Amino acid sequence: MPKTILILHGPNLNLLGVREPGVYGAVTLAEIDERLKARGAELGYGVRTLQSNHEGVLIDALHDARQWAAGVVINPGGYTHTSVSLRDAIAAVGLPTVEVHLSNVHAREEFRRRSLTAEVCVGTVSGFGWRSYLLGLEAVVGVIAGKEVRE
Ligand code: DQA
Repeated sequence: MPKTILILHGPNLNLLGVREPGVYGAVTLAEIDERLKARGAELGYGVRTLQSNHEGVLIDALHDARQWAAGVVINPGGYTHTSVSLRDAIAAVGLPTVEVHLSNVHAREEFRRRSLTAEVCVGTVSGFGWRSYLLGLEAVVGVIAGKEVRE
């Protein structure tokens, strides 16, 4: 059984491809998930993906991932800027987690510059469109491998 990474997509990301393509690009969520699974396989990792528009579903998925995931890549969408509960879930679960954003959140509205979730993640990738997810996957795999070397 390969180690498995959980990819979590937050609210409104199911509309990728049609939602503000000038900001978020034309690639659909299904295409992103396929690319992540292919890259995961190249890296020797399984990739499981979940999108939800509901905060509690994302939190439940993080809790469940304690049983089987080696790490997490999360795009919390708008919850990035608002959700204490999602932040607490990432911290509670304690899996190495990388936050990703398609857009450069620092080059947009002021309210997007503050991330409650980034503070409990290993790091953040922002502004590279769908490639942010690939970079996030590579980063979390690197973190996991690095941990094993030290242990
Ligand atoms: C986003 C950035 C957030 O500010 C926004 O609410 C999103 C998408 C991104 O991927 O660029 O829904 O997380």
